[in-house]
Amino acid sequence: MTTSRLLLALLLLAAYLAMCAAIYLAEKRKRKRAAHEAAAWLPSADGGQTWLVAYASQTGFAEQLARQTARVLHTGGVPARVSALSELGDEELQCTESALFIVSTYGEGDPPDNASRFFDKLMQAPAALPSLHYGLLMLGDRSYASFCGFGRALAAWLAASGAQALFEPVVVSNEEAAALQAWQHHVNRIAGTSDVPDWQAPAYRRWRLAARRLMNPHSAGTPTYHLELEAPDGGALAWQAGDLAQILAPGDRQRPREYSVASIPADGRIHLLVRQERHGDGTLGIASGWLTHDAPLGAPVELRLRAHGNFRIGDNARRPLILIGNGSGLAGLRSHLRARAADFATRPSRNWLIFGERNAASDFYYREEIEAWQAQGLLTRVDMVFSRDQAERRYVQDRVREQAGIVREWIAHDAAIYVCGSLEGMAGGVEAALIDVLGEDGVSDLVAQGRYKRDVY
Ligand SMILES: Cc1cc2nc3c(=O)[nH]c(=O)nc-3n(C[C@H](O)[C@H](O)[C@H](O)COP(=O)(O)OP(=O)(O)OC[C@H]3O[C@@H](n4cnc5c(N)ncnc54)[C@H](O)[C@@H]3O)c2cc1C
Ligand SMILES: Cc1cc2nc3c(=O)[nH]c(=O)nc-3n(C[C@H](O)[C@H](O)[C@H](O)COP(=O)(O)O)c2cc1C
Repeated sequence: MTTSRLLLALLLLAAYLAMCAAIYLAEKRKRKRAAHEAAAWLPSADGGQTWLVAYASQTGFAEQLARQTARVLHTGGVPARVSALSELGDEELQCTESALFIVSTYGEGDPPDNASRFFDKLMQAPAALPSLHYGLLMLGDRSYASFCGFGRALAAWLAASGAQALFEPVVVSNEEAAALQAWQHHVNRIAGTSDVPDWQAPAYRRWRLAARRLMNPHSAGTPTYHLELEAPDGGALAWQAGDLAQILAPGDRQRPREYSVASIPADGRIHLLVRQERHGDGTLGIASGWLTHDAPLGAPVELRLRAHGNFRIGDNARRPLILIGNGSGLAGLRSHLRARAADFATRPSRNWLIFGERNAASDFYYREEIEAWQAQGLLTRVDMVFSRDQAERRYVQDRVREQAGIVREWIAHDAAIYVCGSLEGMAGGVEAALIDVLGEDGVSDLVAQGRYKRDVY
């Protein structure tokens, strides 16, 4: 009896193993066929070539897609390496035969920060790239006048440089799923992985609006609120200083709004600093109006976190920081200061805050916290620049110029610069001031070394 049971078990096991082997061989044949098709379709993908997956990304979406793209290539056994566009040199590109570019557009058709060096140094004249075969994914938003302006400029430059497009560029407005699937289809063909499931964007979770406080009563400017959001039950508190929260407001579930996270996981909640937008017709901004006015305390908030590689601390962890910002931009700077405050006892750091608003009496957000950090030594220097507290208007960029000597000294001591807040006015003004103080080469060296990071909008 025992022997026959044993025999039966062995037979079942053998049948099971045979079935597994058959599935494995069928899969292998399928992969080989797909890889063969891809090789035939791609003139120079000779198996030995490592694919370059290059991204230009400001708020992290293109970078996230670049990493997903490389992962699919690896799954199909196709070697791939990921690089920010700014890390690529002329010669390196000339030696590359197969590349996928994933690029977003900023400002008015401008490259993101981590492509500005590539744009300035390489794209000003055609290069010689006759052996480069490439695919291009352009990310943008149709509501901007220069839709995918940088992606189109890159396509034109690649064509003028003799590179050959493997397929029509894929154009994505506002993360639309159908266009992203078209890109995934191309990547699957290259990798021979047609059976890989569709890429899933991280899901929105329901956080809870737990606290809301007006930060600038009687301000001459727009009301600005400190918000606190509690994680869904069992939800992990997993983000880093510098990251972004994407929020879907009930009034516009198609287009998420981004907010710079102002806290760290050790705070137990996501903090945001939200300026209440008001349209020309007097109505409140869709997302900011809902968050700061319409949503009752306790309301669920559809939120997902986005890693913001361009504004995380990364290799700057041991460097002094010059933190420059205005208005709600204090949010992104505060997350870094809170991170540094959390381990100040074991890892003391030097930090300089240069922050601009209208009036000290009404617009000095987080005043007690900032003054406590100053007393503690976490903030070595603080320059609060209130534009309307004197007859002449003064802004953070003016302070950067006035303090030129000290800025140079901090940079000579390896400081990194973090800028957060308005793209219009502040960010451009600060950049012009930094160029005056450090020279064009000085600023582009900082960019190249990852010592000039921006979260500007
Ligand atoms: C990387 C990043 C980080 C950000 N961080 C922060 C932050 O920390 N804090 C913060 O407060 N904001 C931040 N923002 C801005 C934020 O994402 C939103 O853009 C802002 O809150 C406005 O959104 P809203 O839905 O309230 O306004 P919307 O309703 O989208 O209105 C925005 C603009 O659209 C136009 N508009 C839309 N509808 C009308 C209409 N009916 N009439 C007239 N004009 C109209 C107006 O020009 C208006 O100014 C950030 C943005 C980015 C990209
Ligand atoms: C401040 C700002 C400016 C932008 N300017 C443009 C633009 O001029 N043209 C465009 O097509 N998209 C523009 N966009 C949309 C982004 O390119 C788009 O959201 C893209 O998916 C972002 O990708 P990233 O996270 O990799 O930077 C802009 C977005 C922001 C926040």
